[in-house]
Amino acid sequence: MKTRAAVAYEVNGPWVIDEFEIEDPGPEEILIKMAYAGLCHSDEHVRLGDFTEAVLPMVCGHEGSGVVEAVGPGVRGLAVGDHVAASFIPSCGRCPSCAEGMQYLCDNGEEIQRGKARHKGPTGMVRAMSGIGTFSEYSVVHENSIVKVGDWYPLDAVAVTSCGVATGWGSAVNVAGVKAGDTVVVIGTGGIGINAVQGAAMAGAANVIAVDPVEMKREFAQTVGATHAVSSIEEAGPLVEELSWGRGANSVLLTVGDATSDLFAPAMALVGKAGSLTLTSLSNVTQNEITLNTVDLAMMGKHLHGSIYGYCNPRSDIPKLLRLYDQGKLKLDELITARYKLDDINEGYRAMHAGENIRAVIDYSL
Ligand SMILES: NC(=O)c1ccc[n+]([C@@H]2O[C@H](COP(=O)([O-])OP(=O)(O)OC[C@H]3O[C@@H](n4cnc5c(N)ncnc54)[C@H](O)[C@@H]3O)[C@@H](O)[C@H]2O)c1
Ligand SMILES: [Zn+2]
Ligand SMILES: [Zn+2]
Repeated sequence: MKTRAAVAYEVNGPWVIDEFEIEDPGPEEILIKMAYAGLCHSDEHVRLGDFTEAVLPMVCGHEGSGVVEAVGPGVRGLAVGDHVAASFIPSCGRCPSCAEGMQYLCDNGEEIQRGKARHKGPTGMVRAMSGIGTFSEYSVVHENSIVKVGDWYPLDAVAVTSCGVATGWGSAVNVAGVKAGDTVVVIGTGGIGINAVQGAAMAGAANVIAVDPVEMKREFAQTVGATHAVSSIEEAGPLVEELSWGRGANSVLLTVGDATSDLFAPAMALVGKAGSLTLTSLSNVTQNEITLNTVDLAMMGKHLHGSIYGYCNPRSDIPKLLRLYDQGKLKLDELITARYKLDDINEGYRAMHAGENIRAVIDYSL
């Protein structure tokens, strides 16, 4: 069948909308009619060549939701008409990582980097990001990369949950392990960081300090759980001192758009004894060096955590987060501050870089 999709063809080139032919779903695969795709910053890292030129061209989009249109042979637990969320890490359920309860590290996740070529277009076969490609009206996806969700949830809320909400919320709750009474700093309160704010607040943090240079983001953060908001890491320093009675933050989360090496030392300086810095942001894959004081790290018993998917297990955590939304405890509708047609994806990402949105979605009904 035919589908239209947004492709990153070359480093720093625009998103290009082309028409593609996709084949029927094969064994263990399903055909999804996409409803919404979230504009996550990670897709821009792909387009800007941060994961190397070799991954291009790529039909991007790894955050999204849709409805099952067809199922291939051997698919279990999914039927035509089911509402689903994309999962940018597959969960095979059988590899050592999955078996140990770490589906976010599924060994079956090779497709994450390379994607799988399923779109036949003007220049030949094009791979789909994470094996999903939510920037495509229709996509054929392995059932391991799909999570069934209740059909009563609005599909735009499901879409943002599939990456941004799970990754941000989980970075605070699962990776940093925020506890009641903690002092937490979230550096960068865009689509991911704003959910780290929600997670930290829900875990009972006494102080949640949002750091973002954009005023709208700081104001918004204070509507979803931030107790304070400042515009720079430098400004956060004296505030953390005061609020933590001189002990420093229990957790600092780095959720800016691009984790450049210069951010690590000032971020770690906010962390108190036995506290942690959690790195959720991505950056250029060739960035091998950061500056950190090693004696401070060792002798203050600090931790540096890497966070993939906020250590969320998509099959259990996406439904869990949607349930919290149902109960009014997790804000999802409010996060979606703009909706674009697929053809307007370049405008959507311009707005993201300009700091105009919390999270934007491609709405396939437009
Ligand atoms: N680890 C994972 O599994 C995972 C998953 C999804 C996204 N990510 C990454 O998380 C990062 C954030 O993604 P997003 O979609 O939220 O991006 P975004 O562009 O929506 O948000 C980034 C925010 O950081 C703010 N910011 C920029 N520089 C800052 C600074 N120096 N200090 C404070 N704030 C600053 C921006 O104003 C913006 O609000 C990206 O690098 C993305 O690739 C990682
Ligand atoms: Zn993402
Ligand atoms: Zn696995």
